Amino acid sequence: MAKTSPSQVDLIREAFHYQSRFDGSTMVFKIDFPVTEDPAFSYLMKDLALLARTGFRVVIVPGAKERIDAVLQEYGILSQYRGDSRITPAAAMPFVEMAAFDVATRFITGLSADRVDAVIGNFVRARGLGVCEGLDMENTGVVDRILTDSIKRVLELGMVPILPCIGWSPSGKPYNVPSDEIALSASRALGAVKLFIVSVHEGLRIGTYAIPKHLEGGATGCIVRLTPLEAEAILEINELLLEPGTQDRPLQELRLALRASEAGVERVHIINGQEEGAILKELFSNLGAGTMVYADEYEAIRPLKTADIPGILRLMEPLIQQGNLVRRTAAQIQEKKGDYVVFEIDGSVHACGALHHWGAEQAEIAAVATDPAYTDMGLGRRIVRYLIDRAIKQGLCRVFVLTTHTHDWFEFLGFTEASVESLPESRRKQYDRIRKSTIFALDL
Ligand SMILES: CC(C)(COP(=O)(O)OP(=O)(O)OC[C@H]1O[C@@H](n2cnc3c(N)ncnc32)[C@H](O)[C@@H]1OP(=O)(O)O)[C@@H](O)C(=O)NCCC(=O)NCCS
Repeated sequence: MAKTSPSQVDLIREAFHYQSRFDGSTMVFKIDFPVTEDPAFSYLMKDLALLARTGFRVVIVPGAKERIDAVLQEYGILSQYRGDSRITPAAAMPFVEMAAFDVATRFITGLSADRVDAVIGNFVRARGLGVCEGLDMENTGVVDRILTDSIKRVLELGMVPILPCIGWSPSGKPYNVPSDEIALSASRALGAVKLFIVSVHEGLRIGTYAIPKHLEGGATGCIVRLTPLEAEAILEINELLLEPGTQDRPLQELRLALRASEAGVERVHIINGQEEGAILKELFSNLGAGTMVYADEYEAIRPLKTADIPGILRLMEPLIQQGNLVRRTAAQIQEKKGDYVVFEIDGSVHACGALHHWGAEQAEIAAVATDPAYTDMGLGRRIVRYLIDRAIKQGLCRVFVLTTHTHDWFEFLGFTEASVESLPESRRKQYDRIRKSTIFALDL
């Protein structure tokens, strides 16, 4: 039998890990129209069908802007915009509906090819946008309410709900509602753990956009991860640089991602739908394929302050007594203060961890401890992920841990056992051969 290479095994492990983590979670996919015309669309549909069949609750919001423009042009109706909002005259509405449903049907076709049932529905309650600065927006609407009960019923039947860019008033009047707004409202209302913004742009490329220096690009030269604060900073600088009246889609996507993350969506992924497998890569591996804006841990994890030291010493004490942690004095922690981060909930510290550099390539994740009253809530894992992200941003190649009781846990987090010899020389010299900690490492 052919031997599977370790990297394949790692990938399979990672995939199972993410699968179990997100099983049964709702994810919203906002997919721009040009993606449906790309040869990669059929692969994208295959991947979405795979997710729907394996227990993910997939919700699709098709963008139809370019298709609507084309249909209106075909019927001799001028497309007019105020900023990036379409003005929809009543006479245009039947054509807008036709284009929106035409695009939605492409998704039905794609999913049918993979035997996944889908439903295009009237899941959006809308109202008119009204008159904006003296301009009547006519049949352009805003989301009044997402009909979550109906969407959830469809999801429970194992089907994929599709939300075209049309909403209806309580009396049945149709409105053209921007799909970005529908995706945002649906993500919020359904408590989605993820929103995917799928377009044909390659993302925020360093060099094309003004990007704060500390943010590094991934292998593709695009920004890989952003906190909401960082996203805000990028938008502030780059929106100012835009020519008045012009739109920049990658910046609009980032703005949408930021709004979604502020609305409580844990992770928003901006990906290029032309890249085969981009969704799966982004979802099932820490390789990532696009730009992710993530809100969760960064709200709670922050650098250690001197005032936190007594608190973390208290937190560590029972774990030291149990032999799980090495004792550190207040002075030792103070000396390496910059290495430590803490997890704060409602103003008090309930977990901590540190990243100590050993040379230019490797760092040690150490002093990871969770308040016993707060275990099994994901705090430890988030601290470790945060420290890994920090190491990646600092350009390190590898992180390692020395552990006596938690090797299973680090293995679960993707670390693999390593030898004492693999440690940087300076750390090897300090290795306590009596304590005999096991070494686990993760290549970045
Ligand atoms: C290990 C530790 C940091 C985990 O903290 P936590 O905040 O509870 O971690 P998470 O909530 O992210 O993960 C909990 C999961 O890991 C599992 N887990 C916890 N400790 C484990 C261990 N020693 N070995 C294997 N699995 C473990 C839990 O059972 C739980 O599993 P579940 O999600 O399937 O229910 C915490 O138990 C601790 O402080 N241990 C003592 C200090 C230590 O050993 N630190 C590591 C050396 S640097």
